[in-house]
Amino acid sequence: MADLRDLDVPVVAAPMAGGPTTPELVIAASTAGGLGQLAAGYLTPERLASDIAAVRDGGTDTFGVNIFVPETEPVNRDAVARYRDRLLDYAASLGVELPAVEELGDDDDRFDAKIALMCDERIPFVSFAFGCPSADTVDELRRHGCNVGVTVTTEDDASRAAEAGADWLCVQGPDAGGHRSVFDRRTEPPTQPLDDLVRAVLARVDLPLVAAGGVSTRDRAGEVRSLGPVAVQVGTVLLRTHEAGTKPAHADALADPARTETVVTRAFSGRPARALRNRFTDEFTDAAVAEYPAVNKLTGGIRRAAATDPDGINLWAGSGFRDAAVESAADTIRRLG
Ligand SMILES: Cc1cc2nc3c(=O)[nH]c(=O)nc-3n(C[C@H](O)[C@H](O)[C@H](O)COP(=O)(O)O)c2cc1C
Repeated sequence: MADLRDLDVPVVAAPMAGGPTTPELVIAASTAGGLGQLAAGYLTPERLASDIAAVRDGGTDTFGVNIFVPETEPVNRDAVARYRDRLLDYAASLGVELPAVEELGDDDDRFDAKIALMCDERIPFVSFAFGCPSADTVDELRRHGCNVGVTVTTEDDASRAAEAGADWLCVQGPDAGGHRSVFDRRTEPPTQPLDDLVRAVLARVDLPLVAAGGVSTRDRAGEVRSLGPVAVQVGTVLLRTHEAGTKPAHADALADPARTETVVTRAFSGRPARALRNRFTDEFTDAAVAEYPAVNKLTGGIRRAAATDPDGINLWAGSGFRDAAVESAADTIRRLG
């Protein structure tokens, strides 16, 4: 089985669902000696299969795929209806008709089909976000040669992942860009600093760790690794690279001197995520409800209609967003290694 300790450059490219991760980004990260990961979130299994083929056709065999674990608690439709009411005028101003609450039920993002694809394709690294896969799922993947990782934000979740049989953990701290990988979407995302979280997890479990969240310079990457993780995982710092599929409005906002702050918000998806502060986060963070994936679907039309407006879209960003450079992803990976 592939092993994270064998990477030439101890830097993992974060899987970034919603467009930023492309097969080209994965190929560039792995070719540079790090590890690239496709983001299966929101993709159909068919599209994921074609992205996997594109990575392999590009000559890359060592890579990962990241999958969202389905929610365990059903969607609260009353809460979704309340947030929908709050968004109505804004949506109308963009000419967007919001979906009816009945259309916003639970959705497992085709989890079983994606797991079957991982097994068929014998993907070297399979990582999970938003929850812990069952021991049976982990076992099935391991029997197909997959090295299984789980993203955790607390030491208790680390213990759960270890009990489920994970081979490695991605430990995600509070400065991370994009979604926080809390297992229960309704809990507030922990604020324990990354270094403390890494130490706490290392005291609990004996597994290789990858540490993520706000790592954007070589010095910081070295500092974090000196605590024990075998690699760092970086997302935000890759968003402006040539190979990333980041929307231009998002990529430009990361370098806009007027944008100085990130916030944690459920306004776009219902799950907590760190983004650059903008008009949408100012207007809707307080009203948002913890109902992923219903809220994600609810705001989908709004986000598509505002695709070129940095004040209307989810500008996922970690605290190190100023270090996101326009360069090749291979240069970024090597710079941090
Ligand atoms: C645009 C964006 C999309 C992301 N999508 C995912 C995802 O699909 N799956 C996942 O496990 N993590 C995702 N993350 C979180 C990363 O895995 C990682 O924890 C984070 O990027 C680390 O913090 P940094 O952005 O400060 O480097 C995403 C992050 C960003 C910035």
